[in-house]
Amino acid sequence: MSERTIVSDLDEMSLRGANHVAEIIERAVKERKKCMIALSGGNTPRKLYERLASEEFVSRIPWESTYWFFGDERHVPPDHDDSNYKMASDSLLSNVPIPPGNIHRIMTEKPDPPTIAASYELTLMKVFNLAPGELPVFDLMFLGIGADGHTASLFPHSEALQVTARMATANKIPETENWRITMTFPVINEAKQLLFLVAGEDKAEALRQILEGPSNPKAFPAQLVRQKRGFQLWLIEKSAAALLTQ
Ligand code: 6PG
Repeated sequence: MSERTIVSDLDEMSLRGANHVAEIIERAVKERKKCMIALSGGNTPRKLYERLASEEFVSRIPWESTYWFFGDERHVPPDHDDSNYKMASDSLLSNVPIPPGNIHRIMTEKPDPPTIAASYELTLMKVFNLAPGELPVFDLMFLGIGADGHTASLFPHSEALQVTARMATANKIPETENWRITMTFPVINEAKQLLFLVAGEDKAEALRQILEGPSNPKAFPAQLVRQKRGFQLWLIEKSAAALLTQ
């Protein structure tokens, strides 16, 4: 099941998104006493994260029963301005009463990205109490879309697109050779709820290709998001939606 909502700006995206996230958390905690959430990085989610830390949501969300992970991370220290953890911590995680032990960032201080990815897999196995070969099922995973059609840090024509036997892997951005650590498509596709946040006219062509174009997943990796169950909501800011016909 998938739903697309066109929003006028990031403010509307943040309000609709925060209500959607709060409902998912409330339902998961009611049904299973916990909610496992993987955050995305970049810029688009910031306003929504800030909204979740606003009074309206702070009092509504059972923070002590939420567990926070990252769908991907840049290979920079956690206090670096490019860090997805830093963005999420500054806008949300440090400003709400989540028990510190419930926040699982990708430990990017280690020098070797493949080791960081392997270490994050051990974290997933431990926190989700996984049997060997079992995949974590997130209650909610945030995802963004890059202007090149990537999602998480699964870039066009990159090696990570073929990684299906791992939960997390290291990946290089083809143009810059910068390292990233990312969850893989098998984990993304296990999630019960996906929330895509897409904004900016620079995303319009990639979004048209992803949602309405021919199958071309190597060039537009977000086409490899094929959720096995559950629901995905796309919150698309109007300039990013400009080329969509449906
Ligand atoms: C990252 C993200 C990445 C992001 C897209 C969109 O580490 O950058 O996880 O997948 O969601 O690149 O980024 P913007 O929201 O900044 O446009």
